[in-house]
Amino acid sequence: MLYYYFIFIDRYSNMREKLTFLGIETSCDETAASIVQEKTDGTGEILSNIVSSQVDIHKEFGGVVPDLAARAHVEKIEFIIKKAINESNFNINNIDGVAATAGPGLIVCLTVGLNAGKAIAGSLKKPFIAINHLEGHALSPKINKNIKFPYLLLLISGGHTQFLEVNGINKYRRLGTTIDDALGEAFDKTAKILGIEFPGGPEIEKWAEKGDCDYFKLPKPILKKGGCNLSFAGLKTAVLRASKKLKNEKEKYHLAASFQKTINKILYEKTKVAMDQFLVNKQKKLNYFVIAGGVASNLSIRKNLTQLAKENKFLPVFPPINLCSDNAAMIAWAGIERFKINMTNNLEFPSKARWPLDYSAPFLKGAGVKLK
Ligand code: KG4
Ligand code: ZN
Repeated sequence: MLYYYFIFIDRYSNMREKLTFLGIETSCDETAASIVQEKTDGTGEILSNIVSSQVDIHKEFGGVVPDLAARAHVEKIEFIIKKAINESNFNINNIDGVAATAGPGLIVCLTVGLNAGKAIAGSLKKPFIAINHLEGHALSPKINKNIKFPYLLLLISGGHTQFLEVNGINKYRRLGTTIDDALGEAFDKTAKILGIEFPGGPEIEKWAEKGDCDYFKLPKPILKKGGCNLSFAGLKTAVLRASKKLKNEKEKYHLAASFQKTINKILYEKTKVAMDQFLVNKQKKLNYFVIAGGVASNLSIRKNLTQLAKENKFLPVFPPINLCSDNAAMIAWAGIERFKINMTNNLEFPSKARWPLDYSAPFLKGAGVKLK
């Protein structure tokens, strides 16, 4: 009897339509919408992925201006969502649900995408799912690769830098975090010091290729203490000090190269600590190490962490570059994963400026943080 029951269940799951979700993202300075469809092998197919960047609006201010960002989201959101629907060639009336980023981020920005998502879900009478932007990044590699939980995640973006143990949907353990600047922020501030327009992270990578990475000796804050917590503020101050003594243009490239090499050394040492902490609880044959977020686009960081992963018997996984920086495909995908375990939300769900993935982890930012 049990045998027939399982055959029935198996047939049923094969018959089930592939889930398709609309994702919406407006947590910072990208207005994005995407349609993603589940595939039978457990990964996803991106039917459309539209990202409109506001870089041109913010670059003259050297950083994201919340009010300008919110206004740009309001102006573009409808067009971007319509474009995502059109490009997908998918009938929106057949969508299985709508997922929108609800935090963390700028409230004035989050509200735009969140309200749009709620309105579409409400009018089509479809399930609605509020997504944590960090969970979007954390699950992003699963769109292209069928990796299983648990895995070690290094999230390196403009607003966040964390080592996380990803044990499942909504099951995260933070192993380490930055106690001051995020890594992308450190890249952008270094770029600004060198006269590169915001966001200068990608340009620092190009400059570094033209310079001598051993020319400047820069500090590696809290390298030998604080577990796998990280700190970049002291490094930025050292870059500022060095920049005031530059003798020629070529030395700018040397400073960019020395900065990037220092970052790579910090990431190498701290990731080793995070890997040890991850392995304490896991005895798997294959350990995945996922590197996600905008800074994961950096090829020298990819090379450095790939080498480290090999040495420590981890399998490195980098999402494709277009899924490293902010996008809505990762939000749609997080929606699909949550929907499959019945984690939907009602339309009252608020936007949240702060929304940690691991609520039990202590807040470790700002003056007065003591690390051993
Ligand atoms: O994930 P993301 O698009 O947005 C946030 O959630 O913050 O990350 C943006 C950050 C920026 O700080 C940008 O300068 C940095 O990622 N970034 C890079 C590179 N590409 C983007 N940093 C260093 N090298 C790169 N190639
Ligand atoms: Zn992000």
